[in-house]
Amino acid sequence: MNTSMNTPPLAVRVQRKRLEALDICSFELVGIDAPVLPAFAAGSHIDVFLPNGLTRQYSLCNPAEERHRYVIGVLKDPASRGGSRAMHETVHEGDVLRVGPPRNQFALHEQATRSLLLAGGIGITPILCMAERLSRLDADFEMHYSARSRERMAFDGRIAQSGFADRVHRHFDDGAPAEKLDLPALLSDPDAGTHLYVCGPKGFIDAVLRTAREAGWPEARLHHEFFAAEPTTLAGDTAFELRLARSKRWIMVAPDQTATAALAAAGVPVPTSCEQGICGTCVTPVLQGTPDHRDQFLTAAEQAHNDRFTPCCSRAKSAFLVLDL
Ligand code: FES
Repeated sequence: MNTSMNTPPLAVRVQRKRLEALDICSFELVGIDAPVLPAFAAGSHIDVFLPNGLTRQYSLCNPAEERHRYVIGVLKDPASRGGSRAMHETVHEGDVLRVGPPRNQFALHEQATRSLLLAGGIGITPILCMAERLSRLDADFEMHYSARSRERMAFDGRIAQSGFADRVHRHFDDGAPAEKLDLPALLSDPDAGTHLYVCGPKGFIDAVLRTAREAGWPEARLHHEFFAAEPTTLAGDTAFELRLARSKRWIMVAPDQTATAALAAAGVPVPTSCEQGICGTCVTPVLQGTPDHRDQFLTAAEQAHNDRFTPCCSRAKSAFLVLDL
């Protein structure tokens, strides 16, 4: 469900913080002003407004029927730009955080005849919520959970005690060959009624989607959600110009600058949240020119239209972009 982005943040208290696996903590968040939290559907995430000023998105991994708490899982990422480290090191039980209302860009198609759920590492969080939901619906599904090692497999006990434990296949990168995830075999038969959901690190998602496409899965039945994005500016990036059609202004974006930063510096702020091309908050209509799409929010087909882009991370292949701003 998509809830208005204009909804004011909610104050929540960290009721419980728990180490779920090596470098993975879960946080149970409960309402302060109202014990009943806004409803969410499987696949939803919330924005967490961290004490250090950063905003990060975390998928909800408790059963979607629950209204008394939100549970998120956070991987302490060695490449953290301050978000996951702050959650692990500075957020404690009893602390008050502000969070946005649940949003869902990874919705479950509950009517599908079958669902195939693939989680890589911390990507288990929305996938676990989906498995709980499908199990409750008594729907046909199968889940594959890959981790680098057993000690990095979060929520393993919860899965083992669930009513769907026999539908879950565990895979370990450091395990025996038979324990590794065999994507070509798993995805070789894209039968007509199956929807595939994948969440995890970019390399894992890329491998799943590439294998599925090669096996003939149609795009409409492939669903994914990224957890960490690539850096938004790269060595070799060049300057480009933004031409604002409505305000008739031209703004230059420097090679090491994002388009949102250039717009903000010129007094034209565009709403942002993740600033990594994941959430879609900043999507802006493009009237002319060819964006260099670097987001994971728009689908490949949507990107190919070149009629909108995510200025928080995307750039331009043409010398300028005309924006409907
Ligand atoms: Fe999230 Fe741009 S702010 S995609």
